[in-house]
Amino acid sequence: MSNSFVPDPRPKLDRAAQAKLAEAFNLANLSSEFYANPYSTYDALRRCEPIKQMPDGSLFLTRYADLQTVYRDALSFSSDKRREFKPKYGDSPLFEHHTNSLVFNDPPLHSRVRTLIAGALTGRAINALQDGLIRLVDHLLDQIDVKAKRGNPVDLIADFASAIPVEVIGNLLAIPHPQREPLREWSLAILGALEPRLTDQQLKRGNDAVLEFKTYLTQLVAQRRASPGDPAQDVLTRLIQGERADSAAQLSETELLHNCIFILNAGHETTTNLIGNALVLLDQWPRARADLLASFEIDSVTNSAKHPSSSSILLDSAIEEFLRFESSNQLGNRLTVCDTRIGDLIVKAGTPVTLCIGAANRDPAQFVNPDQLDIRRMPNRHLAFGFGIHQCVGLSLARLEAKIALGRFLTRFPNYSIVGVPQRGGRVRFRGFLSISASV
Ligand code: HEM
Repeated sequence: MSNSFVPDPRPKLDRAAQAKLAEAFNLANLSSEFYANPYSTYDALRRCEPIKQMPDGSLFLTRYADLQTVYRDALSFSSDKRREFKPKYGDSPLFEHHTNSLVFNDPPLHSRVRTLIAGALTGRAINALQDGLIRLVDHLLDQIDVKAKRGNPVDLIADFASAIPVEVIGNLLAIPHPQREPLREWSLAILGALEPRLTDQQLKRGNDAVLEFKTYLTQLVAQRRASPGDPAQDVLTRLIQGERADSAAQLSETELLHNCIFILNAGHETTTNLIGNALVLLDQWPRARADLLASFEIDSVTNSAKHPSSSSILLDSAIEEFLRFESSNQLGNRLTVCDTRIGDLIVKAGTPVTLCIGAANRDPAQFVNPDQLDIRRMPNRHLAFGFGIHQCVGLSLARLEAKIALGRFLTRFPNYSIVGVPQRGGRVRFRGFLSISASV
């Protein structure tokens, strides 16, 4: 196994250096070192300025306990982004999209949409995806095998991690296969527009993507209304029928379209990054990989690891640790709607607050040896899926995708190794890789 780059080769900074790093921190102006490894900066902030006031007056939180305070109090800490997004997006498709998504709304609109989506993402709907998911993953692994045997380079993102969520959510909404190709690009452009700083080109790409996505979905919804699918398995049919079942719960056409776009986006880059981050981590931490492989049942005929069964407890716990250690969604946002308190600080109404999930998940007050990847960590109450009324609706689906993808990949290619240095996505909110070259 290669160990071509180590997790964090830098020595811990002393207190004075940490204070300097914390003081200089500005989310609107980040260095390339930060993108490569934000954790020493997060550590400095947590120790020296855990409630950091940013130049724009917003607060940046890095302590686990402070994030919990905010997540628990949805009345004081609003998710409604209309005020914040107006200057950023103006009257644009991106503004319409983000302000109609459930994640950027408060009750009652949030609860109405959430009830419908959660009702559609049932255990039964998710279980129904399992066999197709296994077939998809095995097909991708076959293609990787062929590619590698022909001597072609393998990219664990393009050839594997990014190909999974788009198909899974495509199946969930029963989007016809030939129409799935643009979904990934649309999703990357729309979520990319949530970054703290945007170029005109990124803004344009995001707006164009919303328009194209909406046009596509409008005709898909019209077709599905005319010819409904099976509501037990087709989430789109269920959302459309949910509208009819109870007029008080009805989604408007705009809400329906934008929340479908949101489901597609929310489950896409985050899950790709979970799988990609996990494969890189298992290359960097060879003992964790060996432990995991040893936990898979051994086939007595071939003497190799069998596919992990659905009861592979260590794989479950490893996935929680990958989520904690390299959280694919690193930041969340709220706005105070009344004077309130975070820790010892009185915070005025109208203050934007950034929740740094990546930092809270490395908080030593909550996690023993937080910078150590420990696939047996117990308890592991990480915040990678958020917490409270907005906690991720797709968490069971994400866990299932990761389990099938990682379990089958590791069994098939137990000795894979990363070639060179993987290329980072270069985003602060969504942490992952654009490309990971590997030999299998
Ligand atoms: C590793 C994968 C994933 C991660 C790390 C993740 C993370 C998150 C986080 C942190 C939130 C909370 C946002 C907030 O509090 O402001 C969230 C919300 C949400 N996620 Fe995920 N997510 C993942 C996968 C998925 C998938 C697969 C789906 C759907 C198919 C999904 C659908 C949603 C939805 C609908 C919400 C909004 C919930 C609400 O506002 O009530 N996510 N996710």
